[in-house]
Amino acid sequence: MATSVKISPSILACDFSKIGKEVEALEKAGADYIHVDVMDGHFVPNLTIGPDVIKKIRPFSKKIFDVHLMISPVDKYIEQFANAGADIITFHPEATPDSGETIKLIKKFNKKVGLSLKPKSEIEIIKKHLDKIDLILIMSVEPGFGGQKFMPEVLPKLKELKKIIDKEKYKIDLEIDGGINFQNSKTVKDAGANILVSGSTIFKENNGDLKKNINLLREK
Ligand code: DX5
Ligand code: ZN
Repeated sequence: MATSVKISPSILACDFSKIGKEVEALEKAGADYIHVDVMDGHFVPNLTIGPDVIKKIRPFSKKIFDVHLMISPVDKYIEQFANAGADIITFHPEATPDSGETIKLIKKFNKKVGLSLKPKSEIEIIKKHLDKIDLILIMSVEPGFGGQKFMPEVLPKLKELKKIIDKEKYKIDLEIDGGINFQNSKTVKDAGANILVSGSTIFKENNGDLKKNINLLREK
């Protein structure tokens, strides 16, 4: 099993009427990161929150804000997300004309860079950037909505990336996002994931006992 697995709860599944309190509760419950899903109704068929909301919830936790941008184009919004308090900014290579330039832009604001692969996106499209990034987010559902079913067909991609990272000694975290639950958490860790994103499982299982659910995902 991967050592020191981190849990990054997605606030997409929280009660948006008290979003600040929810972020605070996640920190208290032992979350390592706070995963923020940003959707634009264009790159993905759903709308969520933008930089102004992130800025408002930022004071509720000192944890790393793990911001997953599902927006296109991304470059013109990077500065706003950086200023709003994102610590890691992850984008999809399909959402920008030049991933290399977007990586540079994120680094200009001293933020960590993540690249995300949709279930059908191949490793090839991020390969030349592996020496410049901090994280790879592997989508195990089609991006856009919480509560979808985990797609086991992404596991070979996760394993392959783990192999490449170990071989080349890259310092890249492998994050998995979508449909993570108590049944598949061990499988994804064994396949190489060291950060698990979860919305529905953390907020809905065991009557919404955040601490219990975070611990179960970490330990199982
Ligand atoms: C989907 C998002 C995910 C998702 C996770 O586009 O990136 O973060 O909401 O939620 P669950 O755990 O409910 O699949
Ligand atoms: Zn996400």
